[in-house]
Amino acid sequence: MQIDKNVEEDGVIFMSIKDGEESDAAGKEQEGSREADGSQPDKDVIILAIESSCDETAAAVVKNGREVLSNIISSQIALHTVYGGVVPEIASRKHVEKINGCIKAALDEAGITLEDLDAVAVTYGPGLVGALLVGVSEAKAISFATGKPLIGVHHIEGHISANFIENKDLEPPFVCLVVSGGHSHLVVVKDYGEYEIIGQTRDDAAGEAFDKVARAIGLGYPGGPKIDKAAREGNPDAFSFPQAKIPDAEYDFSFSGLKSAVLNIINQAKMQGQELNQADVAASFQKAVVEVLTTHAIKACKEYGYDKVAIAGGVASNSALRDLMEKECAKNGIRFYRPSPVLCTDNAAMIGAAAYYEYMKGVRFGLDMNAVPNLPLGDRERRYHGRSNS
Ligand code: KG4
Ligand code: ZN
Repeated sequence: MQIDKNVEEDGVIFMSIKDGEESDAAGKEQEGSREADGSQPDKDVIILAIESSCDETAAAVVKNGREVLSNIISSQIALHTVYGGVVPEIASRKHVEKINGCIKAALDEAGITLEDLDAVAVTYGPGLVGALLVGVSEAKAISFATGKPLIGVHHIEGHISANFIENKDLEPPFVCLVVSGGHSHLVVVKDYGEYEIIGQTRDDAAGEAFDKVARAIGLGYPGGPKIDKAAREGNPDAFSFPQAKIPDAEYDFSFSGLKSAVLNIINQAKMQGQELNQADVAASFQKAVVEVLTTHAIKACKEYGYDKVAIAGGVASNSALRDLMEKECAKNGIRFYRPSPVLCTDNAAMIGAAAYYEYMKGVRFGLDMNAVPNLPLGDRERRYHGRSNS
């Protein structure tokens, strides 16, 4: 996957992501773009997708759910790093400044105009309300001006759908481990757009734990990639950290005890005037997180009888998680799917992938669509009213 980067004057990084790495099934017919009855859609479905739920402004053009014609990300991460986390007000203001440029670049790179679109899709939740509103307002304006159908997409369903882009052979049902900054879910993807949650975190999300521990050991923000990098120089067996087991919910996670254990070690070292090896703490913490995530995912596949597992969300770009999942899946005869790292973190191509399957089902949103910051996964309301493209 090729990423063209340009750091703008305000510190925002503008990226254009090109050329998806070919999957195992490269060259195969695009099975994923079939309709539910197995027939091919009459014509190509071209969707402009917009994502602005956190600190990335993104726009992409996606054909038939799996072919990315353009994928633009404007990342504000450098602006928030100085504050040690995302500042919602700054994020919203930057989205307003960047969104039109991202959409123009996405259309230009795809070589199309708004007239060529079949639909406009946008993340409408969950996320930061002010940030979401920028994308939602933009998508509504484009839909109103062009008459093209509007589709609201759940951000986490987008993360899961990132797996469809490079794995042309992946079709539901499968198990998906969703691990991002705000979510840690173990999900059965029963069909396109149909999710059954079988496990979730009781406290911190996996990405949140990475961010908090990184801050505590002085690595700063964003924690996930920094711990991933530091851990490569450290000993994962230097410290033995607890892995929470929840007796009445074997697929649930809990990361707050692990975070406290890391804080205790830091405090003890301070009191004894000892210097802690940052890389050893990072590697041991990462091992504890990655082991519990992998164990749960493999167990779910075996007990629920699925032979395919995917990972999704920002933490899915973690190298130790990818390696351990790969190893354990091979050992247990399970096919392992994962998006390229740049498609694991926030992007609009994944929103376009999820939107395609909603579009094919006839899901259409009206101009009354609103941002829903705490939109639940799985049982959200689907709207069939509003304009239709037929
Ligand atoms: O999915 P994402 O980009 O945004 C949300 O929807 O939350 O996930 C961001 C999270 C952050 O907590 C970040 O620290 C974590 O993903 N992350 C990682 C890695 N890259 C990003 N965690 C562990 N290892 C990484 N390489
Ligand atoms: Zn995300």
